[in-house]
Amino acid sequence: MRTVRLAASLLAANLGQLEHEVKRAEEAQVDSIHIDVMDGHFVPYFALGTDIVQAVRKLTRLPLEVHLMIQQPDRYARAFIEAGADLLIVHLEAYHDPKRTVSIIQDMGCRCAIAINPMTLVENTFPLLKKVDQLLCMSVNPGFMGQPFIIEVLEKVRVARAYRDKNHLQFDISIDGGVTDETVGPCVTAGANQVVVGGPIFTPKDAAQATHLLRARANEVGAGG
Ligand code: DX5
Ligand code: ZN
Repeated sequence: MRTVRLAASLLAANLGQLEHEVKRAEEAQVDSIHIDVMDGHFVPYFALGTDIVQAVRKLTRLPLEVHLMIQQPDRYARAFIEAGADLLIVHLEAYHDPKRTVSIIQDMGCRCAIAINPMTLVENTFPLLKKVDQLLCMSVNPGFMGQPFIIEVLEKVRVARAYRDKNHLQFDISIDGGVTDETVGPCVTAGANQVVVGGPIFTPKDAAQATHLLRARANEVGAGG
């Protein structure tokens, strides 16, 4: 049985102690680091940028996934790849041609995910799923950490998983926002093989214990794929 992968969302970390926080995530044996980038247009606030990606790249060998909550992600893709991103996550709802953006990113040798907001229909991603490396379903409205999990997202994950299996596709399915030791089980049951977790990993003193609990809860329902 394969267990669910955990991506630790740095937005919830103490960025004043970046090295310490990255080390804590490593010691907690997360599978990747998730970096949320906000442009003040696609979402109301600003957060993180290429500098932080570059800094984290120097601190760890863990894969870095960069969640671009920005308009025109095609314009900034190269800068984030050069900063050290292993996977770029772009939103279907952003102002760009998603198919073209996915090609641009993959042609530069980087993995690419397509993300959808809670209100966006998962069927709108179907034309892209043959191409992308990951589908990320937002289970909170993008832009803020610490929001409650929107349970209706699980139905979209079920639909995506069925589509993936029926068409023998390989893309990963990730869920981002409000994932806790209570919601991780339903995420896995619905068909996700990755979850992004911020507060529940970085807020407690013992990040390793937190990830241990998340994995235990995920394993109770049997993670897959
Ligand atoms: C929300 C971000 C998430 C968020 C997750 O806009 O994309 O990555 O930081 O934080 P938690 O797990 O605390 O909801
Ligand atoms: Zn995110």
